[in-house]
Amino acid sequence: MSRRPVKVKTACLILAAGKGTRMYSAQTKVLHTLLGVPMAAYAVERARDLGASPIVAVLGHQIDDVASMLEKRFGPGCVTVVNQKEQKGTGHAVRLGLKPLAGFGGMVVILYGDVPLLRTETLMALVKKAAQSGSLAMLTSVVPDPTGYGRMVRDGRGKIREVVEHKDATHEQRDIAEINAGIYAAPAEFLRLATSKLSVRNAQGEYYLTDIVARAASSIGVVSVDVPVEEVSGVNDREQLVAAEKILCRRIVDGHGKHATFRAPDDVVVEASVTIDPDAEIGRNVVLRGKTHVAAFARIDDGVILSDTVVGKGAHVLPYCVASQATIGENSKIGPFAHLRPGTELGPDVHVGNFVETKKTRLGRGSKANHLTYLGDTIVGEKVNVGAGTITCNYNGYEKRQTIIEDGAFIGSDTQLVAPVRVGKRAVVAAGATIIEDVRDGALAISRVPCKQIDGYADRLAERYHSQKKASR
Ligand code: UD1
Ligand code: CA
Repeated sequence: MSRRPVKVKTACLILAAGKGTRMYSAQTKVLHTLLGVPMAAYAVERARDLGASPIVAVLGHQIDDVASMLEKRFGPGCVTVVNQKEQKGTGHAVRLGLKPLAGFGGMVVILYGDVPLLRTETLMALVKKAAQSGSLAMLTSVVPDPTGYGRMVRDGRGKIREVVEHKDATHEQRDIAEINAGIYAAPAEFLRLATSKLSVRNAQGEYYLTDIVARAASSIGVVSVDVPVEEVSGVNDREQLVAAEKILCRRIVDGHGKHATFRAPDDVVVEASVTIDPDAEIGRNVVLRGKTHVAAFARIDDGVILSDTVVGKGAHVLPYCVASQATIGENSKIGPFAHLRPGTELGPDVHVGNFVETKKTRLGRGSKANHLTYLGDTIVGEKVNVGAGTITCNYNGYEKRQTIIEDGAFIGSDTQLVAPVRVGKRAVVAAGATIIEDVRDGALAISRVPCKQIDGYADRLAERYHSQKKASR
């Protein structure tokens, strides 16, 4: 599949001023996300794939929020924003959007902000057709239920004559199954002229962009590219949002699925920014987000949720682990039920077991923290054993403080390390210790109240309660 930008000079208009009433949301429709990416960003990504410049977004509802999202994602100046205060129709939106393109003489591609399934390859075919013919090129689709869409009206020889909106269509026209997808490519010159002549004499009292089709039919000509309806379906409500998200996800999974094993390709979430190397294996209900990378031969078991996390070669993440902004070294073994929080950096051959939480913590090669442990703001050397129930007390209510455990140290179970504190090389901390001072290399640190035993206690206790019972009867 060729992804080279189309050669003809191309600009892009993205129509996204509508509120999206059917979302029933305080947030404007195009800010709702699919796989972590706001809907409007999909259109900008397609425009960038085309190499389009400038990219103009016609915005209205929550314009400041949408504009700042676009700037954050694509950088300042990448998208030129035009304010359509009142949504007077698609034709009006394009007329406004053409204003910043005053001197532009190339091809203009018109996209919607709510059609996230559109593929770059399809747009390239559209632009190519427009460029080769010098005509207006539009995407069309034959659908089982055309209700609501503009219908493609063709003459006896199959040439496109016009588009008639559903509300303006006659009974016969409503039987037409071929619909206008609303995505066009045309010479800027033609669009400027055609949109300057639109009227609102129609059933909705709006400036219909679709009126340019009849104008093109009698001037530069109209050509169409037929596409599967799935690709051009707009997102209008939350049901369509999640359905589109599922399709997008399946495309991503299928892309990785040739070289990595997905045990349940329909029951995972993989964002587009995730990378997965050959021979990785992904289990059921796994969620991989952001800049997560799964290296070769790594195994991600069922129910694991990773955000911006790097999993090293051959590492094994057991079921139900959650990690965010963490690095897992080669051949390490994590979980089940481990929680790796931001700033966790695990070296190779590290074991982090069940109910272990780490934050801003490094573990060196071969170190282990296998059970019920919290390590925060901690640097752990190589071949350290952190016993069950070890807790770093890193927070005094005001600031976070650091714990350092050096190579080969052994931390006995149920230890509290009160930071700031250092445990030296090969030092041994006895089980149940509360460490409030640095432990010297190779030393034993033990902090225990001596154990006292009182013989016969159990019997005396039983007797006391028995006699009380008798007395109360
Ligand atoms: C439009 C087409 C219809 C086509 C359908 C495909 C027109 C008149 N009709 O209908 O032929 O079958 O798309 O989905 O063009 N927008 C603005 N400003 C406005 C109006 C709309 O920015 O003043 C934006 C919307 O936010 C949306 C897009 O344009 O992203 C399409 O608008 P919408 O109202 O959904 O068009 P339809 O009536 O569905
Ligand atoms: Ca629509």
